[in-house]
Amino acid sequence: MTTHLFSPLKIRGVEFANRVWVSPMCQYSAVDGVPGAWHQVHLGSFATGGTGLIIAEATGVVAEGRISIGCPGLYNDAQVAAWKVITDFAHQMGTKIGIQLAHAGRKGGTTVPGSDHFMATKEEGGWIADAPSAIAFEGYPEPHALTVAEIKKLVEEFANAATRAIAAGFDVLEIHAAHGYLLHEFYSPLSNTRTDEYGGSFENRTRFLKEVVTAVRNVMPETMPLFVRISASDWTEGGWTIEESVQLAPELLALGVDLIDASSGGNVHNAKITPGPGYQVQFADAIKNQGGISSSSVGMITDPVQAEEIVASGKADAVMMGREFLRNPRWPLHAAKVLGQEVHWPAQLIRAK
Ligand SMILES: Cc1cc2nc3c(=O)[nH]c(=O)nc-3n(C[C@H](O)[C@H](O)[C@H](O)COP(=O)(O)O)c2cc1C
Repeated sequence: MTTHLFSPLKIRGVEFANRVWVSPMCQYSAVDGVPGAWHQVHLGSFATGGTGLIIAEATGVVAEGRISIGCPGLYNDAQVAAWKVITDFAHQMGTKIGIQLAHAGRKGGTTVPGSDHFMATKEEGGWIADAPSAIAFEGYPEPHALTVAEIKKLVEEFANAATRAIAAGFDVLEIHAAHGYLLHEFYSPLSNTRTDEYGGSFENRTRFLKEVVTAVRNVMPETMPLFVRISASDWTEGGWTIEESVQLAPELLALGVDLIDASSGGNVHNAKITPGPGYQVQFADAIKNQGGISSSSVGMITDPVQAEEIVASGKADAVMMGREFLRNPRWPLHAAKVLGQEVHWPAQLIRAK
């Protein structure tokens, strides 16, 4: 029997073996933006565990685009070489791997978890964060409002990082436009009060994201899939809405985006979110079935039957899971058993099957 969850999905030239994917997760363990042994083991463990796609964590397109001083980047050759070790291993395991290209905006420049202070000092490698407007996120310092010339430069930096990601061997690129980071800060009216062509109307607030998508797609091979993670709702009155996400979907599709990874929230500290099992499925569903683009769902998906239902019912083309993969990096092998699905196990693990 073939379940929906374990049926292959082809996007452009890439075939994903199944539809249960690892969601990008910051590890705060890079040195000078270079991923190391932790990342090899962390991402490598998923590669041995039967997932159809791993998306590596938010990775700064410039040093000042990282979330913390321990986040990785793709702004120099040493980083490309370090990522290549990771993609090579995933490919040896027959697992597809993508990376999330990111700019943290006003939520950037922090220390790593466990530090005795939150914002990294200049001596530690910290920086003054960039944002659409000089409006601080709760608990963070006031950011620098980007000039138009600086925005244009960042569009180029996203494309440069995409070129490096391709050289590093990634199969998929995902643009991080969610969770209150720079691209989300632009399209959400809660953090963007600009009066130029990058603020105000829906068209203006989404301009930066669309310019980034266009520039990134331009350097990508035709056969390579491009995903965008958005926060489909700010969960806040006066903020970005699911209706706007549905409106954005066909526009991104027309620019060469293949799938919207539908997350939510993160741009204001007091958003009224009521998390529960599959609480964001509604967003993937609306984006796919009203917006007309493939989608993935993420957020409190932990159970094989639940994951199967999301895909089988046509609410999303794939599911991503974060914390459940931290608990059990080989979740798909177990889920397949629960669902009565035969799947490939790496030879090294076969005695545990
Ligand atoms: C440790 C950790 C790090 C995360 N880092 C990222 C990230 O780099 N990029 C991102 O888009 N989401 C990030 N997230 C959010 C997850 O990708 C996911 O959307 C969220 O955890 C909800 O899914 P879950 O309930 O399956 O964990 C992170 C979550 C966790 C737990």
